[in-house]
Amino acid sequence: MTESKINNLNNARFLTVEGVEGVGKTTNITFISKWLEEQGIPYTHTREPGGTPLAEELRSLLLTPRDEQVDATAELLMMFAARAQHIEQVIKPALEKGIWVLCDRFTDATYAYQGGGRNMGFEKIRQLEHFVQGDFRPDAVILLDLPVAVGLARAAKRGALDRFEQEAEGFFHRVRNAYLDRAKENPSRYWLVDAEQPLEQVQVQISDTLRKILAEVQ
Ligand code: TMP
Repeated sequence: MTESKINNLNNARFLTVEGVEGVGKTTNITFISKWLEEQGIPYTHTREPGGTPLAEELRSLLLTPRDEQVDATAELLMMFAARAQHIEQVIKPALEKGIWVLCDRFTDATYAYQGGGRNMGFEKIRQLEHFVQGDFRPDAVILLDLPVAVGLARAAKRGALDRFEQEAEGFFHRVRNAYLDRAKENPSRYWLVDAEQPLEQVQVQISDTLRKILAEVQ
């Protein structure tokens, strides 16, 4: 069985969008949603951490700035706790019904932020990924890539910074490098998009990518 067929019996695809703060995830997820609608593809749009009432509460706990130092292992386990709930309650049921899932971040973000950003390394994440997900993986990861300073300047304009956005620039360089390394290691699943181009060109690249993903299931 190929990896893409593990997810479901209906050829619905599990797409995730990743990238460092300020890469334009929200704008481009709206673009992808419209593209799926235009193709008549049934889909649901969700996010991590979050996507269910319990997982959204965990998101709020994770993102709220606090005086207490958050232990990196506690942070990692909360990400996977939210993910376990999200997969079972939202992602798998949708795919089983033939509904595509468009998810704003998933486990690749854990490799990038906890593995890279927090310097936790990747082995513990691999073990938790296997424990929580078994063989379940996204069919396609669209990685929006941009120099860190450009992204952070954009994110700063959005207002109050969450607990992650308050990290020093070095943290985001490690996050970006971890994403880029994963893209190199998983070329069949990762679609790297240069998000520094004008938006119109970014979206041409995204629609080309989506056409290729769709062609695989037709
Ligand atoms: P965002 O979705 O608005 O970017 O906020 C989510 C934040 O959570 C973002 O800073 C990345 C972080 N995050 C992790 O650190 N690990 C994870 O596994 C996920 C899904 C998100």
